[in-house]
Amino acid sequence: MRIVHTLAELRAALAGAPAPAFVPTMGHLHKGHLALLRLARENGGPVAASIFVNRLQFGPNEDFDRYPRNLGRDCELLEGAGCDLVFAPDEGEFYAEPQTYTIQPPAELAGILEGAFRPGFFTGVCTVVMKLLQCVQPRIAVFGKKDYQQLMVIRGMVRQFALPLEVLAGETLRADDGLALSSRNGYLSASERAEAPQLQASLRAVQAAVKGGERDLVAIEARAMDTLRSRGWQPDYVAVRRRSDLQSPSADQVAAGEALVALAAARIGKTRLIDNLEL
Ligand code: PAJ
Repeated sequence: MRIVHTLAELRAALAGAPAPAFVPTMGHLHKGHLALLRLARENGGPVAASIFVNRLQFGPNEDFDRYPRNLGRDCELLEGAGCDLVFAPDEGEFYAEPQTYTIQPPAELAGILEGAFRPGFFTGVCTVVMKLLQCVQPRIAVFGKKDYQQLMVIRGMVRQFALPLEVLAGETLRADDGLALSSRNGYLSASERAEAPQLQASLRAVQAAVKGGERDLVAIEARAMDTLRSRGWQPDYVAVRRRSDLQSPSADQVAAGEALVALAAARIGKTRLIDNLEL
C-alpha cells in the first residue's frame, strides 16, 4: 500500500494504473469505513482512500481542532482491508491558498436538516469532495448511508456536473446495541455511550408508528423528540422525509406507500450524533 501526501506523489502513483475505486474519509477509521472499502474492492481494480480532516466543513464552534487524528493506525487498518493507495493530503499544499472557489449545493437539499443546523457544512463537503475527486480521478466513489443527506448531496453534484464516475452507497455499520459506528462515538462518556443507542431506538419508534398506520408525521416526530428530551438529549431534528429528495411527504403520498426515511440529529452531553432509518 502506498501512502502519499502531495499532489505530485499522488499523480505519480496513479499514472498508468487503472482508475481506482475511491473511499474518502476524515480518518479515525472504524469498521463502517472498512465496510466501504470492502464494497470498493468488490468492484475489482485498485482501491484508494483519502484521510483528510477537512477544515471547510467544520463550523467555528465545531470540533475541527479536537477531531481525532491517527494516521499510523488508520493506515494499518486500510492496509489490512486491502487498500492500495492512501492519499492523506498535506493541508498546507491542499489548501495552499484560501479555497475561495467553492461548490454551493442547492438550498432545497442542502439547506435543510443537517444544512439548517450546520450552515456551510455541505458547501465544505461538496468543495472538498469535488477537489478530492479531481485529484484521484476514480471510476467509482463510495459513500455511507450513515450520512444519508451527504450521500444525496454528493449524488446530485456528481449528476449535475456530469462527473465521469459511479457513486456507490454502503449500508450503515452498527455496534451490537444498534449505535451507528462513528468517529465521534469516542467522545462519549461511559454513561452517554450506554444511552446513545436510543437515537436509533427513537427512529425505530417512528418507523413502528408509520408502519402501524399513524398518519400525523408532525406528531410522530414531536413525540420522538420529546422522548429523547426526557432522556436528557437535546435533539436538533427527528424528521420523516421522502427518500427521493428529503422533502416532507404529503398525507396522500404516505398513504400511497411513498419510500420514506427517518433522519435524526441530537446532542448527548457535548457530542452531536446523527442517524437515519429507511422506513
Ligand atoms: P467520515 O465521517 O470519515 O466518513 C467517511 C465515509 O464513511 C462517509 O461516506 C460516511 O458516510 C461513511 N461512514 C461513516 N460511518 C459509517 C458507518 N457506521 N457505516 C458505514 N459507513 C459509514 O463523511 C465524511 O468523512 C466527510 O464528510 C467526507 C465525505 C470524507 C468529506 O470530507
